[in-house]
Amino acid sequence: MAHETLGFHSLTDEIAEELPVSGTVPDWLSGSLVRNGPGAFEFGDVGVEHWFDGLAMLHKFTFEDGGVTYRNRFLHTEAYESARNGAVKSGFATGTTTLFERIKGFLLDAPYDNVNIIAERIGRRYLALTETPRRVEFDPETLATKNHVQYDGPEPAGNFACAHLNRDPETGEMVNFEIEFGRTSKYHVHSMPSARERDHICSISVSEPAYMHSFALTPNYVVLTEFPFVVNPLDLFRPGKQGPFIDQFEWKPERGTRFFVIDRASGEVVAEPRTEAFFGFHHVNAYESDSRADSPGEELVIDLETVPDTAAIDTLTLDRLRAGELGAFAGQLERFRVTLGDGVEIERELLCDGTSLPTVSPAKWCRNHRYVYAQGTDQPVTEWPRELVKIDTETGAVTSFSDGENRFSEPIFVPKDDWSRKSETGDGRNEDEGVVLSVMLDVSAETSFLVVVDGKSFTELAKARVPHAIPFDFHGRFFSELD
Ligand SMILES: [Fe+2]
Repeated sequence: MAHETLGFHSLTDEIAEELPVSGTVPDWLSGSLVRNGPGAFEFGDVGVEHWFDGLAMLHKFTFEDGGVTYRNRFLHTEAYESARNGAVKSGFATGTTTLFERIKGFLLDAPYDNVNIIAERIGRRYLALTETPRRVEFDPETLATKNHVQYDGPEPAGNFACAHLNRDPETGEMVNFEIEFGRTSKYHVHSMPSARERDHICSISVSEPAYMHSFALTPNYVVLTEFPFVVNPLDLFRPGKQGPFIDQFEWKPERGTRFFVIDRASGEVVAEPRTEAFFGFHHVNAYESDSRADSPGEELVIDLETVPDTAAIDTLTLDRLRAGELGAFAGQLERFRVTLGDGVEIERELLCDGTSLPTVSPAKWCRNHRYVYAQGTDQPVTEWPRELVKIDTETGAVTSFSDGENRFSEPIFVPKDDWSRKSETGDGRNEDEGVVLSVMLDVSAETSFLVVVDGKSFTELAKARVPHAIPFDFHGRFFSELD
C-alpha cells in the first residue's frame, strides 16, 4: 500500500485478542481506551468522499496487570447497514443528490447516525456520538451495537448536536449544546444528568448559526466560540441546491469570531467579546484564572486550537488525502484570556505552532492546567503527524516523541492517581505523572501499535503490536472501569 494511502484505507477485519507487548506497561494502568473513527470508506462499489464520513468503528485497548488486549468492531448503524446494501446515506461532506434530500437525510426524518467522532459514558450508558442528536449505545465489553438514544423530553432540542460534550470532573456534570435551525435559529445549552434527561441552561437566538465542533467549560461558565463560518438556515432547507451539509456554510470573516460567555447558574450571557476572524475545531481546556487577586474568577483562560480559516475542511477529502495533499491542516495552540466585568477585554497569545488534536489530563478539565499534549505537525502541514508533543504552557517548552517514519493518533493522557478524584492544584508538579496513550501506525510493517509514553520524561515505556493497520481515527476516551 502506498504510504499516502495507508491510514486512509478501509479496514474490514474485526478481531479480539491479546497483544504482544514490548517494554513494560505500568502495573497501575488499569482500564480501557476506547477510540472512535472511520473504519471503512468503501463497501463494494460505493464509497464516501470525505475523511469525516468513513463508517464508525470502535477500537478498545484494555490494560490489566501489564498486559494489553484489543478488540475492534463496526457500529451497526443505519449508515453502516445502508452502505453494506450498496447505498451511501447522506453525510457531513459526502453526496451528489439535491441539497434538500441531503439535509433531510442529515438533519430531519432519520438523521445521519454515522457516530464516528467519539465514545462517551453518559450516566450508565456508553454512547458513540456525531453531530446529529442521534446517539448509538454500545456494549463496553463486546463493542456490540445496542440502541439509538435520542433525547425526546420537553426541554429545547436542536437538529445539530455537538459531539464534544464537556464534563466537569468536580461535580460530574456533563454540559453540551445543540443548534436548532429555523427562521430564527437557536443555540440551546444544557446539562445532561443522563442520556435521556437534560436541564436547560440557556438559549441564544441568532439569524445565521455557526458551525461549532466543540466549546469550553469552566466551573462557572460555558463559552461558545462562534466562528464566522455560518449558514442561512432558510437556504439550508430550500430545495434545488446541490451539495452536502457542510458545503452550505459560508466563511464571513468580516463578522469576526465571537465568544458567548454564559453563566452556568443563571443562564445569562454575561459577555460576548469579538476578535478578528479565525476558525477551529477543538477547544483544549478552559478555566477561571486566580492570578488576578483584585478580582478572582473574573478572567477566563481558554486554550483553543485555531486555523486562519475553513480551508482545512476541503483538504480532508479522501482524494486529496490519498494523493498525499494535506494542505492547510495544521493548527496553532492559542490561549485566549477574557476579562469579565466592566469593559470586557480579550487577549490572544500563541502557545505552539503546528499542532493537531490537543488534549489535557482529564484531572484538569475545567481547571488550571499546565501541560497540553498533541500531535506535532509541520507548518504548513505536508504529511500525517510523525510526532507527539508535550507543551509546557508555563515555560513554553515543547518536548517531542517520535519513532522514525511512524504516524500517531491523538494522544490521551491517563493520570496515575485516580482521575475521578480531585487532583492537586497549584504548581502542576505532578500533573504529568501518568502515561500518554496513542495509536502509532508503522508505515513499513503496515500494522499499528498502541504506544505507552511516560508523561514526565515523554519517553517510551511500552508498545503493543496490533495485527492490522488501524485507519487514522478521531478521538478516544480512557475509562478506568467499564461498568
Ligand atoms: Fe473532534
